[in-house]
Amino acid sequence: MDFRTIPPGAGGLAAMATDALLVVLAGTSRPDGLDTALATLLDAVVEAGDFEFKAGSTVVLHRPAGVAAARVVFVAMPAATAAAWRKAVHAGVAAIRSGGAKSVVIGSVGGAAIDDVLAEATVAAVHDATYTYRRTKPSAPAASRLDSVRLACDKAAAKRVDEGLVRGQAIAAGVLLARELANRPANHCTPSDLADEARTLGKAHGLKVEVLDRKDAEKLGMGAFLAVAQGSEQPPRFIVARWNGGRKGDAPVVLVGKGITFDTGGISIKPAAEMDEMKFDMGGAASVLGALRALAGMKARVNVVGIVPACENMPSGRAVKPGDVVTSLSGQTIEILNTDAEGRLILCDALTYAERFEPAAVVDVATLTGACVIALGHHRTGLFTPDDALAAELLAAGERALDPAWRMPLDDEYDEALKSNFADMGNVGPRAGGAITAAMFLKRFTRKLRWAHLDIAGTAWKSGPAKGATGRPVPLLVHFALARAR
Ligand code: BES
Ligand code: MN
Ligand code: ZN
Repeated sequence: MDFRTIPPGAGGLAAMATDALLVVLAGTSRPDGLDTALATLLDAVVEAGDFEFKAGSTVVLHRPAGVAAARVVFVAMPAATAAAWRKAVHAGVAAIRSGGAKSVVIGSVGGAAIDDVLAEATVAAVHDATYTYRRTKPSAPAASRLDSVRLACDKAAAKRVDEGLVRGQAIAAGVLLARELANRPANHCTPSDLADEARTLGKAHGLKVEVLDRKDAEKLGMGAFLAVAQGSEQPPRFIVARWNGGRKGDAPVVLVGKGITFDTGGISIKPAAEMDEMKFDMGGAASVLGALRALAGMKARVNVVGIVPACENMPSGRAVKPGDVVTSLSGQTIEILNTDAEGRLILCDALTYAERFEPAAVVDVATLTGACVIALGHHRTGLFTPDDALAAELLAAGERALDPAWRMPLDDEYDEALKSNFADMGNVGPRAGGAITAAMFLKRFTRKLRWAHLDIAGTAWKSGPAKGATGRPVPLLVHFALARAR
């Protein structure tokens, strides 16, 4: 997909020759500044009851009089926010994506001038509206024919808007990678497959990639990670991918992604209903690789290390059992009371491993708890950190990227729940506050780190008819890292 800016000529939007002209109308009535031809068309569709100035309202007109474009798509945008812009562009593109239009010009009327934020949102919306998963469904309807997007904006704004388009395309490539990997069924995305993807990514985009296997993990003493991996026929992989875009010696940002390629729950097995969705349990890993893809793609001047502990959580004769005690890489012992609380077990060893990079900050990303979905639903990612400054950075990155998070508490009182008579800690607390106790467990492994945890169980994918990965929180991670670039 090719994205560029285009100056509205003397004839305005109505004179633009394109397969489709997408006009985003800000406000709750016909905005000023619309060309006469377009205003006439708009009045007619409103009059006919085919269009309202309400969020989501769209109408497509073919070969309308007085307009150079072959199609005009009107989209209503009553709210004046970047998120509303993204939704409006998404709705407009969705209205024409399965048709014959190859080129689209997008114009804004009555709203804020297009800037880099809206440019980025435009790229995200277009990609989101046109993505089709095909890997294991080659018969899926052909991907959209749309291949050229022009954003109408004044010459004065073009430079900033172009920057937004470039950044948006790098982020979109990262989001697409994350969606693609997370959508793949577990038999097409094993720990070894993930490692191969990381290596391929490394070759294509200049990342240094190192993959540790079971023997390496044993030598290091990753007892918690290996305990989860031991029930599966699939060998575990511990992936380390580095983007060195910053100065040599600059402390890196470390991103740790939960890479459970399938979570059956292990011996504490999950119920059958919707267990298929546990193929998405490597969404954190996918987002870390996606963020690296995006940052490398834009040659971001920052050092980033991605760490992905990857394995399956399976029941078997060799699987870890409830009550088993293992020794983590940190030396702390863990009583595995519930084998379904496996994410924290692989993450704790990865967090300890992160210490060796002497990071400026560590952010782990994980589809960690069903409790987080109960707490926050599917809109905001759960953010946990004892560090107020880091919290502010991540929240701001989420708002800027239209990929929002919400801070959750980490009071010491919640730590009580992890006490065990047989080890330094148990791996679960009671049901109540489950997302918080999971974070408290991780916190015990971060004494030497500036650390934050993102629980993306509710945001990394959608269930229902539109079942599939969202690519979140790639945009948040990218903006977090970019804000730290030199
Ligand atoms: N991968 C799941 C968390 C999850 C559940 C994500 C549902 C998305 C939707 C995680 O490994 C898990 O099983 N967590 C348990 C923890 C419990 C045993 C303390 C959970 O949330 O039920
Ligand atoms: Mn689990
Ligand atoms: Zn899991």
